[in-house]
Amino acid sequence: MSTEYNFLKACRLEPVDQVPVWLMRQAGRYLPQYREVRSKGKGTFLDLCKDPARAAEVTIQPIDILNVDAAIMFSDILTAVEPMGMQLDFHPAPEFANPVRTRADVEALKVPEDMAQALPFLPDIIGRLRKAFEGRVPLIGFGGAPFTLACYMVEGKGSKDFASLKQIMYGDTELYHALMEKITELDSRYLQMQIEAGAQAIQIFDTWGGLVAPHDFERYVLPYAQKLIASLKGRGVPILYFVKNSGTMLELVKEAGSDVIGLDWHVNLGKARDLLGDDVAVQGNLDPTVLYAPQPYIENEVQRILDENAGRPGFIFNLGHGILPTVPPENAIFMVDAVHRLSRA
Ligand code: CP3
Repeated sequence: MSTEYNFLKACRLEPVDQVPVWLMRQAGRYLPQYREVRSKGKGTFLDLCKDPARAAEVTIQPIDILNVDAAIMFSDILTAVEPMGMQLDFHPAPEFANPVRTRADVEALKVPEDMAQALPFLPDIIGRLRKAFEGRVPLIGFGGAPFTLACYMVEGKGSKDFASLKQIMYGDTELYHALMEKITELDSRYLQMQIEAGAQAIQIFDTWGGLVAPHDFERYVLPYAQKLIASLKGRGVPILYFVKNSGTMLELVKEAGSDVIGLDWHVNLGKARDLLGDDVAVQGNLDPTVLYAPQPYIENEVQRILDENAGRPGFIFNLGHGILPTVPPENAIFMVDAVHRLSRA
């Protein structure tokens, strides 16, 4: 039964016999096995995302290699917005050929009714993975939060400050809200489709949500995260919300209403839990660069975070952001084992 998985129990604040652990971006370039599959067949990263057999294969790799407690389907947050009419490419950083800048651009964005039809490879991947993992690990589906998707759609690529989006946000607030309404509707259909296809938890990545001041988070970011999460609730699938750089506004992040709050490494996990209260689970928060340290150092850092949690239920161990592409895989394997070993009841 899926309710037996430590990961899902922790999402629901139930006791576990050892702390569950997975790594954001656990399928990726740090694994030689990933690089091997990536170079097989048609070359691009997007081709890999859209090839269900190979995408399923790279999702399974970290389960076999690292012994983590959850799988995250292999895809990217930005493939969701291709059906809106966005022209996407990766080099390997993402780029849109047609960034959204004007009212006409926003009006031209499509919000397809049927996301399974718009992105047929996704229910296919999810179906394959549920079969492959039955009784072994739960499958996490995911998407970008509306604000983070808007950052890329308006800027057209990565950026330090996403000034193009800020210009619309501050300069034509009405247009900003029109854009966010459309993205949130699309996002909601996208994530509901994943739940219908069999995703057992949903993680929402708000990588850039911490770019704004707390009062702007409340005005421009939170209402859409709230609306998205509310639309996914009540289906028995826990929702995880990760806002990078949100340590100064965790009370606001909690208002989004997720079951689990992702923490980056700029906060002390124990203090964050004291602040958030005992009615919400947390996930995090090892500095991803600690995986470059010698193994005894990694072990001490794992122990430090477990001590900060102090045995409280509702804790999922993770990194504070994605695993870096040059991390030695043996250090990731060591870390996962240390979490299990040191937290065993
Ligand atoms: O976690 C997993 O294993 C699932 C796969 C996954 C990818 N992207 C694969 C990927 C997930 C969950 C994501 C989420 C994602 N994508 C986010 C949110 C999380 C975060 O890291 O902040 C964001 C902002 C994106 C957009 C994106 N995709 C960027 C900025 C990049 C380039 C980053 C880089 O390191 O070069 C990508 C490309 C990407 N997505 C890769 C992978 C494995 C590397 C591309 C390759 O293999 O060539």
